Amino acid sequence: MVLPPDPLIVDLGCGSSTLSIDLLLSLGGVDSGLVILIDFNPTSTPTFSDSRVSYLNADLLKPIELPECDNLCLIDKSTMDYILTLGPEAVTSYLTNNVLGRDAVYYCVSYHDEAFLGCIFSNLFESVEMVEVEREDGADAAAHKEKDVADDDNEAYDVNGNFAPNSKYVKKCYLYKCCGSGRGLWKNEEIEERIKQHLDEFYMEKNTMISEERVEELRRLFEGGRLKLEDVWKRVFDEGLKSVYGLEDFTGEVEEWKGEKVDGLRVEEVVEFLKVMQ
Ligand SMILES: C[S@@+](CC[C@H](N)C(=O)[O-])C[C@H]1O[C@@H](n2cnc3c(N)ncnc32)[C@H](O)[C@@H]1O
Repeated sequence: MVLPPDPLIVDLGCGSSTLSIDLLLSLGGVDSGLVILIDFNPTSTPTFSDSRVSYLNADLLKPIELPECDNLCLIDKSTMDYILTLGPEAVTSYLTNNVLGRDAVYYCVSYHDEAFLGCIFSNLFESVEMVEVEREDGADAAAHKEKDVADDDNEAYDVNGNFAPNSKYVKKCYLYKCCGSGRGLWKNEEIEERIKQHLDEFYMEKNTMISEERVEELRRLFEGGRLKLEDVWKRVFDEGLKSVYGLEDFTGEVEEWKGEKVDGLRVEEVVEFLKVMQ
């Protein structure tokens, strides 16, 4: 990530992340740059003693006024991932109110790959670059295990729910750098409809969670049996989804779908649930 001199770094949905503060500190010079941390939930905001860092409690789905700056860098670490779970209307409000239309470089760290998120960005920005920024294989996962670091990637669990990383264990995320906002292919008034179409197509047609291969894999994983809800959640959802769709959310939706308290599911029920959930 290369930042211009004296940037205004705005962290969209900072949570407890110190990424923007770390970026500011890495710039070196005492006066170089400012950071504004934004979140609507102030409870976990990182503490900072640097006068160049400030916090703004605001809703990113609404327009937020920012100070004038020639070198504006918008940082989004997994906030887009969360907003995507709210649907096309929220994604459109977020982007049109606080990303597009600003003369800025927008950096987005996401668990979503090019087919899913890159496709949206490449229709909204003049230029989009993407790099894979993290990848862990079995050896790394095993090192995590030794250090007793909790890690719940579904590939890292065996059929009994025990942490058992193998060579299939991978965890990737992506860094997108988007420039030239407001100069993309989709016109402002069609953005929401286009995003909706893209998400619908993706979930209905390309959703790997209910592809035939995935269903086969789940059958093997379940060994024809019935698993506790927690074990189902661990195996079925990827890291990105689990970071925003917790076990409690899953349990709540399964029980609403079933209309009763549920402690476990058979694989056929999981497949049905995943179809309904789309
Ligand atoms: C997945 S977390 C990522 C937090 C942080 N960037 C990190 O990397 O740890 C998403 C963050 O976005 C914030 N957020 C979600 N929707 C928001 C909104 N409409 N307005 C402001 N903040 C929001 C949440 O409070 C949360 O802190």
